[in-house]
Amino acid sequence: MSKRTIVSMPGDGIGNAVLPEAIRVLDAAGFDAEYVHADIGWEFWCSEGNPLPQRTIDLLEKYKIGLFGAITSKPKSDADAELAPELRGKGLVYFSPIVGLRQHFNLDICARPCQTFTGNPLNFIRRGADGGVEEPVVDTVIFRQNTEGLYGGVEWSNPPDQVYDALMTHPKFRQNFGSTPKAELAISTRIFTRKATERILRAAFEYAKKFGYKSVTVCEKPNVIRETSGMMLAMGKEVAKEYPGISLWDTNIDAQMMWLTKNPEDYGVVVAGNMFGDIISDGFAGLVGGLGFACSANVGEDVAVFEPTHGSAPKYADYETSIVNPIAMILSACMMLDHIGETEIAARIRKAVAEVVAEGKVRTYDMMKMRGKPDVVAQGAASTAQMADAIIAKLK
Ligand code: NAI
Ligand code: MG
Repeated sequence: MSKRTIVSMPGDGIGNAVLPEAIRVLDAAGFDAEYVHADIGWEFWCSEGNPLPQRTIDLLEKYKIGLFGAITSKPKSDADAELAPELRGKGLVYFSPIVGLRQHFNLDICARPCQTFTGNPLNFIRRGADGGVEEPVVDTVIFRQNTEGLYGGVEWSNPPDQVYDALMTHPKFRQNFGSTPKAELAISTRIFTRKATERILRAAFEYAKKFGYKSVTVCEKPNVIRETSGMMLAMGKEVAKEYPGISLWDTNIDAQMMWLTKNPEDYGVVVAGNMFGDIISDGFAGLVGGLGFACSANVGEDVAVFEPTHGSAPKYADYETSIVNPIAMILSACMMLDHIGETEIAARIRKAVAEVVAEGKVRTYDMMKMRGKPDVVAQGAASTAQMADAIIAKLK
């Protein structure tokens, strides 16, 4: 097969520390690719007034597959203050470039695996019935609808008259909000489409079928949010009919958060709308090591972007020796390999990660439950590069 070209978008902060380490691991594992750098993030907001330059969109349009580190988003006042003086007063508005990428390329399927690595000191433990300590093996993959719902961006403060008038036609709106002055209303909508809902449900069931999970759980709140959550559950029941042997479970997001620490090993594939998917995936990630281990894929019909779920962790960005854990980024790169059919290389890298974690000799500061400080390496924690080195050593 011809050499692959991957668009590399390290972005801001620790994105610049973890993405090069992941590429080093990919190279060492024998993945034959070249990487083209693409600009994204705060720097380009400040200097160009656009954190997602068109040239980056063009590269993704051309090469289809991206690795992304992290970006920094700051409040509106900081965004305006840090903009280059010549760009100020021109009505430029900051937006998150990763959300921008998801929307531009309709990367509507977000997959977030949360899987226990044996020997990880950060693994969730609980007390068993006999009073002893149990460490359940979590193997859950969350499918989050990535473009719609509460993060769809359709929102207003002091809504325009047409919107207000339309809302006033709804009896519940009249009853509960009809006496509130328009200027005192803030409205964020939760819009689901049948097309995107069906795509996320099918992605979840297909994944469960391919990897032998026995259940798909729709995690929403259909008893209260009757139209959107209700539609997802109803459609889930229809899609489930095509997958005999895979049970459809449904849970409410609030109860699911409680069950997380009770019986997390019972859940296989979980599927949810945008916000509940975001919440539940962080919840499960917390059981298997947290941000240093949480990887994700954003997949559309044409383009896919793979990223750790953590952000740019600005407080660690300028350390002379980077201390953050590169495993989340490396596992995200494995998801990319699976996506493009390089499953053997992905499996070898995951095995190497598992061996390093199980051995326990090389651990980043988060795995040692230290506070992140420049001197953690002197105290025995592995640096970002040392963790990647250890993984590479296991590949040999
Ligand atoms: P964050 O994920 O950047 O960091 C939170 C804390 O988690 C860090 O201070 C650190 O203690 C820990 N952490 C994160 N990644 C780690 C790693 N690889 N290894 C070890 N420890 C790690 O989230 P925070 O502080 O809320 O946001 C910082 C910036 O990142 C903000 O500007 C935010 O907007 C942005 N952000 C970007 C995201 C993205 O690019 N997809 C996602 C989340 C936040
Ligand atoms: Mg999140």
